[in-house]
Amino acid sequence: MAESVQSSVRQQLLAAFSKADGEFVSGQALAEILGCSRTAIWKHIEALRQEGFELEAVRKKGYRILTKPDKVTENEILIGLQTNWLGKEIVSLETTESTQKEAHRLAQEPFKEGTVVIAEEQTAGRGRMTRAWHSPKYTGVWMSVILKPSLPPYKAPQFTLITAVAIVEAIIDVTGLRPEIKWPNDILLNGKKITGILTELQADADQIHSIIIGIGINVNQKEFPDELKDIATSLAIEKGEPVSRSQLVQEILKNIETYYHVYMKEGFADIKKRWEKYALSIGKKITARTVTGVIRGKALGITEEGVLKLLDEEGTIHDIYSADIEIDQKG
Ligand code: BTN
Repeated sequence: MAESVQSSVRQQLLAAFSKADGEFVSGQALAEILGCSRTAIWKHIEALRQEGFELEAVRKKGYRILTKPDKVTENEILIGLQTNWLGKEIVSLETTESTQKEAHRLAQEPFKEGTVVIAEEQTAGRGRMTRAWHSPKYTGVWMSVILKPSLPPYKAPQFTLITAVAIVEAIIDVTGLRPEIKWPNDILLNGKKITGILTELQADADQIHSIIIGIGINVNQKEFPDELKDIATSLAIEKGEPVSRSQLVQEILKNIETYYHVYMKEGFADIKKRWEKYALSIGKKITARTVTGVIRGKALGITEEGVLKLLDEEGTIHDIYSADIEIDQKG
C-alpha cells in the first residue's frame, strides 16, 4: 500500500481511539470503521507502537491507547486536537532548515488555510531582525501557522499579539506557570525568554495573501549554550519536570483558532484587554531600539493596531511599530 494511504488509515485509527477517549475499541469495530481486515488493523497497531505509542491489547475487549510519544508528528498532534480547521493539515518534518521557510514555500501553492508546518529540529531557525533561533532536536515547539485573513497588511502586527495571548493561555493551562509578554513578541518566565513569535507576510499593498506566524517555544531543554543561558529558559527548567509538546501545540492551535474568530467577528478589543493583562512592559520605563534609533520613555499601552505608545522625557508620544525593548530596572 502507498505510504500516504497507510498514513491516512493510521490517522483514521487514531481518530477512532481519540473518540473512544481511553476506552477499548474492538478489533472488529476498528476493521469496520477503517474498511480493512483485522489482520491489517493489527499491522497498523504494530506500526503505531514503532512510532512510540503505547497500546494495550486485551482479548475480547480490543485495543486502547495508554500513552502517546512526545513527538510533534502529525499523528501525535491530530489525536485529541480540538479545532475545527486550524492544524487539520499538518506538515511534520523530522528536520528542516526553518519551518518558516517551508511555510513560505507552501503558501505560494494552493494550500488550506490553517496549514501548520512543524519540525522536531531546525538547522537554520530564524528569529526577528535576521537573528538565528536555536532549535535543538526533540526539545521545543518549532512551528509555522499559515492563515489567509482577508485584511490589509497594516493589520498584521495584531496577529503577533493574538498569537502571544493564545500561547500564554496555553502555557498557563498546560503547565500552571504564569508567563508574561514583553512587547511585541517575547514571552518570558522569571525574566528569561521562553517563546518568540515571528509574523511574516505575503501581501500586496492592499491585501494580505498569507500571514505566516512562526512560533518558537523552549519546552524541554535542560540547558542552553553559553550565549543564551542568561537570557533564555525552558518550561521544563521553570516547572522542574518535562512538559508535553504535543499537548501544548494542541492548546495553542485551539486558542489561535478561537481568538482568530473573535478578532474577525468582533475586532481587537477583547484580545487587547487580554494582552494587556499579561503584558510586562506597560506602565514601565523602557528603552526601545528601533531601526532608526533609540527612544527612552514610559510605555503607555498599545493601540488598536498593536502599536506601542511611548512617552519620552520631553513629553512626546512615539508610535513604535517594531523594536527591541528593554525594561528599565528602576522604572
Ligand atoms: C524571535 O523572537 O526572534 C522570533 C523567533 C521565532 C522562531 C520560530 S521557530 C519556528 C519558526 N521557524 C523559524 O525559522 N522561526 C520561527
